[in-house]
Formats: sequence, structure tokens, C-alpha cells
Amino acid sequence: MATISDILSAEHFDILKVIEALEKETAKLAESRKINHDFFQKALDFIKNYADGFHHAKEEEILFREFCKNEAQMHCNPIEQMLAEHDLGRKYVKQLAAGLADNRADEIMAGARGYADLLKEHIFKEDNILYPMAEEGLSAEIKAEILNQFSQLAETKYNPEFIGRYAELIKELAANQ
Ligand SMILES: [Fe+2]
Ligand SMILES: [Fe+2]
Repeated sequence: MATISDILSAEHFDILKVIEALEKETAKLAESRKINHDFFQKALDFIKNYADGFHHAKEEEILFREFCKNEAQMHCNPIEQMLAEHDLGRKYVKQLAAGLADNRADEIMAGARGYADLLKEHIFKEDNILYPMAEEGLSAEIKAEILNQFSQLAETKYNPEFIGRYAELIKELAANQ
């Protein structure tokens, strides 16, 4: 059976594919100064609805919450840092969206680069430090409860239709040349 880290790290894998595409398109923009509105709009859709709306919400509302409830076993410091990084990511996304709305290439590049650099580091920390800590430190009951909440989400808001739609978008963005 898939563990909490299997599930969340698989989502990271998809997020990193889009970040790679975002970095490529940003490098192209730096050279050509031509804004590919279609690409950036779709990347924003993915970042807002999948990376943040879906993945970060699962972390914040389920995993981090359970992690912090068990403060006796584990201190909460890594969670505060992770939350601060999610918030900083949202600021970069706003900058990217504002730049796109006003046709300002420099704003788009600053937002996209800030987001990409931050998220790559953030994902590395979660995959290598936070998730292993959760797998080791949380009791079997709590881990089962977290997995149960993940499955409930998969039956409602983040159903196979949602996942399928974003799987297509990931493919499309990754194929952008
Ligand atoms: Fe996170
Ligand atoms: Fe994450």
C-alpha cells in the first residue's frame, strides 16, 4: 500500500516537471522578450489549483495538522518553516500573475524564477527531511488517519476527473518547446 510519502512525493514529481517547463519558458522569455501568454496562463492554472490548491492543502490541512497535534513526540519547527515557504511561494505566484496581466516581462521572470528556486528547495526538504520524520515519528493510527483523509479528498473535490485534467495539463506543459 502506498505510504504518505509515496503519495506526496509522487505529486512533487509532477510539480517538478512543470517547474522545469516554467524555467525553460522563462529562459526563452529572457532572450526573446516575447511573452507566451498561453503557456504562463496554463502554468498558473496548474500552480494555483494543483500545486497549491491540491498538494499544499493536503500538507497544510492534513499532514502538518496531524504532525503538530503530536508535538509531544515531535516539535513543530519544521512545519512553521514549511508554511512560511508556502506563503512565500504564493507571493511569487502573485508577482508572476500581475506581470502577465500587465505584459511586464521582468515581473514575470522574477516571479517565475523566485517560485521555481523556492519550490525546488522546498520539495527537497520535504522529500528528504520532513516526510521521513513523519513516517518515523507518527504512530500507525495517525498515519492511517492521514491516508484515510487523503482518500476522502480523492472521492470528493480531487476526484479522478480533476487528477486526469491536470495529468493532461502536466503533459502539455512539459512538451512545451
Ligand atoms: Fe510543502
Ligand atoms: Fe510538498
